[in-house]
Amino acid sequence: MKRAYNFNAGPSALPEVVLQQAQEELLNFQETGMSVMELSHRSGEFENVHNEAQDLLKELLHIPENYDVLFLQGGASLQFSMIPMNFLNDNQTGNYVLTGVWSEKAIKEAKILGRKTAVAASTKEEHYNRIPTLSELLISQEDAYLHITSNNTIYGTQWKEYPETPVLIADMSSDILSKPLPIERFAMIYAGAQKNLGPSGVTVVIIRKDLLEKAPTSSTPTVLRYDTHANNNSLYNTPPTFSIYMLNKVLHWVKDQGGVEAIAQTNQRKAKLLYDVIDQSNGFYRGHSQEASRSLMNITFQLPSEELTKKFLSEAKNAGFVGLSGHRSVGGCRASTYNAVPYEACLALQQFMSTFQQDNQ
Ligand SMILES: Cc1ncc(COP(=O)(O)O)c(C=O)c1O
Repeated sequence: MKRAYNFNAGPSALPEVVLQQAQEELLNFQETGMSVMELSHRSGEFENVHNEAQDLLKELLHIPENYDVLFLQGGASLQFSMIPMNFLNDNQTGNYVLTGVWSEKAIKEAKILGRKTAVAASTKEEHYNRIPTLSELLISQEDAYLHITSNNTIYGTQWKEYPETPVLIADMSSDILSKPLPIERFAMIYAGAQKNLGPSGVTVVIIRKDLLEKAPTSSTPTVLRYDTHANNNSLYNTPPTFSIYMLNKVLHWVKDQGGVEAIAQTNQRKAKLLYDVIDQSNGFYRGHSQEASRSLMNITFQLPSEELTKKFLSEAKNAGFVGLSGHRSVGGCRASTYNAVPYEACLALQQFMSTFQQDNQ
């Protein structure tokens, strides 16, 4: 069976070998006589999977001892609400950098809760085609936190350096584990799994332990408090066991590839293939992002007309490429080149783009 060239923005490609392993183990996980989905989440077998996934993530990202790794549900979107619920008491301000729709959604939840917010910077006027420079940010030492979206999935922009501030919180849904990270610079990182970590269903939170001591407001429901999950090793209620099992397998795969450092090099080579074809096209392909903010995960580009875009997408589909339509708010095309998208798929897309240009300009 031929696998598609999968450039979906999320859920997205998973490593083929991980899918094969899951298939092999599906009916009988580790001689238990049942699938991992049928195990109790309190069983020794599942706890091993769960704890090993936490340990692997700590190892791969060099997460220091003073951080907890949590596995939650509700996607990155629920984090938009949990963050103000847990960290914003009366009179404290949550400061947000607006670099796209996801950051707008994050600040919106704090506002719905009636908490105070500020905008450190916004590039909305420029159609979110860049990340603000650090000197543009209006940050106060009084802020309860500064929230950023490290990679903007829709626009194809990515932070290259991070602000220096005591409580930095980052939505890393679309670039976690794609490159080494200075974890100590962050108070909290969160990510829905469905791009670089595994299938949808689990949200990874990496949180500095001192933040857990900050009492959330008394009206915060138990299941929405970070300390509830930290105190119960993310087993306060039934976790998404199959998603955590797949996350465990993806983390093993990253380790087998040589770790995050090796993955980052491959990601750079993959993105370069596509940015090169854009840059050498004499304006036939135009990138949405300004060059300095270009994402290595989501490569967004426009063609000269709506008609050519439709033709491009239709011919690409016939050639086996999936997921290349741009988000409806930006239009054009987008290739998501997450960790599990093979170099060969990007090479094939580069060749397809070159040939399409030659045939249509
Ligand atoms: C950067 C970013 N943040 C948040 C989300 C929303 O994630 P979820 O669907 O897991 O709530 C997405 C989804 O694509 C995203 O790309």
